Amino acid sequence: MGGIFITLEGCDGSGKTTQVDLLKKRLKELEIPCLVTREPGGTPISEKVRSIILDEQNNSMVWRTEALLYAASRAQLIGENIVPSLNNGIHVICDRYVDSTLAYQGYGRGLNIDDLIAINDFATSGLKPHLTILLDIKPEEAIQRFSRRKTDRLEKEKLEFHQRVREGYLQIAKKEPDRFKIINALESIKEVHEEILNKVLSTLIN
Ligand code: TMP
Repeated sequence: MGGIFITLEGCDGSGKTTQVDLLKKRLKELEIPCLVTREPGGTPISEKVRSIILDEQNNSMVWRTEALLYAASRAQLIGENIVPSLNNGIHVICDRYVDSTLAYQGYGRGLNIDDLIAINDFATSGLKPHLTILLDIKPEEAIQRFSRRKTDRLEKEKLEFHQRVREGYLQIAKKEPDRFKIINALESIKEVHEEILNKVLSTLIN
């Protein structure tokens, strides 16, 4: 594969979407061809799955269904966009990936991590990111940010859920220190952006 695969992760309210937009703009200015996409979503089919998953009316959704829908959305995005792009030498930046499932459905919901790894290995054919940027923030701080806007089904979860998700992310990152770059999401938007950009550029160049 020619392209480099980079993912951004973080709790709700970590400022990830803002940072993905800034990164996309900067890479365009630098004329570095890349596909910037998001999970769940990124293709017409995956966006439909996204709206089912996040619909706050769907509060009877069983956690295994939730995990499988995230994996289904992911399989489609990979097959339709990510792998073809990487094969054509185009770098891919993805807003969330398998680590989100491990953190949210594994640590947050309490589903078995090995089961989640197995269904995601099937969904992704084992495709792993070269670099994962984790925007770390305490859920107490993050909730203040996202509760100001309309929240989706996952964001409506209580504080303890988001605390388990954050703890999960830190555990996952600890296991793979070479893949992860942890950034303090409480720094200014500009500082976080510069840190992300430096790490991304050094990964793309090496
Ligand atoms: P977003 O707000 O970053 O677009 O993500 C949508 C929500 O979906 C967010 O609360 C995190 C959650 N999520 C999971 O629970 N598992 C996953 O595998 C993914 C990709 C997202």
